Amino acid sequence: MSTRPALSAPTTLRHARILGLGAYRPERVVTNEEIIQFIDSSDEWIRQRSGIVTRRFAREDETVVDMAEAASRQALERAGVETGQVDAVIMATVTHPFQTPAAAPVLADRLGMTDPAAYDISAACAGYCYAIAQANDMIRAGSADTVLVVGVEKLSDFTDKHDRGSAFIFGDGAGAAVVGVADRPGIGPTIWGSLGERADAITQRESWTDLRPAMEDPGRTKGVDWPAFTMQGQTVFRWAVFSMAPVARRAVEAAGITPADLDAFVPHQANMRITDAMVKALELPEHVPVARDIAETGNTSAASIPLAMSRMLEEGEAPHGGLALQIGFGAGLVYAAQVVEMP
Ligand SMILES: CC(C)(COP(=O)(O)OP(=O)(O)OC[C@H]1O[C@@H](n2cnc3c(N)ncnc32)[C@H](O)[C@@H]1OP(=O)(O)O)[C@@H](O)C(=O)NCCC(=O)NCCS
Repeated sequence: MSTRPALSAPTTLRHARILGLGAYRPERVVTNEEIIQFIDSSDEWIRQRSGIVTRRFAREDETVVDMAEAASRQALERAGVETGQVDAVIMATVTHPFQTPAAAPVLADRLGMTDPAAYDISAACAGYCYAIAQANDMIRAGSADTVLVVGVEKLSDFTDKHDRGSAFIFGDGAGAAVVGVADRPGIGPTIWGSLGERADAITQRESWTDLRPAMEDPGRTKGVDWPAFTMQGQTVFRWAVFSMAPVARRAVEAAGITPADLDAFVPHQANMRITDAMVKALELPEHVPVARDIAETGNTSAASIPLAMSRMLEEGEAPHGGLALQIGFGAGLVYAAQVVEMP
């Protein structure tokens, strides 16, 4: 057998941390009164069952790339990072309405970046935590020095306003994080996984190809529904409440700390009652502030964790440099949790 030279590979691992966070909330505030024009419900029921008081909807002409750009510019400015320094862009979204190209290269071009790696990931409400895990590993192993992570959704485009089970839940927005090289570990090990046998629990109602026969029918006689997202609320609720607290606990243990060392708990903003149940199951010490951004933002899927963390930092509820436990979970079903040092 001929001998060949060994491939070169990095032999030392580096540390990474979040250098800056950015948030974008669309202008239009949508009240429960507006939502219940289309479903048999009430402001009281929505507040009690989900904790949602208002949510934001993007303008019709406002895209996920527009929202991601606004959040990214803020994150870059706060991180003190020039766009030219970013060498990878990961966009977590399930509402970019193009099968291809991905939104990330378009965003990178908008931001004037020079030739970064750029791609989207589809991990629904766990997307941001999945992307943070990837950014951390890329930096640790040396395939990037500075990574822009964005969680962005325009869920109003994929919500059936007549669906009683989901119309009140979702909102639009974007959150971004700049992740870079650090002199100490700033992102703990990620605990993640999936449960594909429950893919039906939250799903797009029809596939894009289901629309084709109707589109090609000249008389448009075949009924067709817009492929909005639908969910089995109780199934998701039970899974989140019973299975996610142990995942969160494992992320804290993997980081080598205890819940008492946390300065913030930032769970995916799915439902206020899920957050309450997780806090209880985790036996989180009372001094740890808990993100409750859902009240004014709704469930923004991949955007919800960076939006909620940004709010806590802006309002002084959580300290810059403190440790936060973040956990995302949703359609797939998929989940991911890690402890991060807040910027
Ligand atoms: C959607 C959700 C709020 C519904 O709450 P729930 O308590 O499970 O509601 P149920 O479906 O069991 O229905 C309870 C009752 O409320 C009624 N109801 C359901 N939707 C309603 C609505 N929009 N308005 C008023 N009443 C409603 C039902 O008819 C039922 O009435 P009944 O007791 O007389 O039969 C809840 O299941 C949930 O939050 N699930 C997780 C959602 C989530 O996080 N999704 C994103 C994951 S990333």
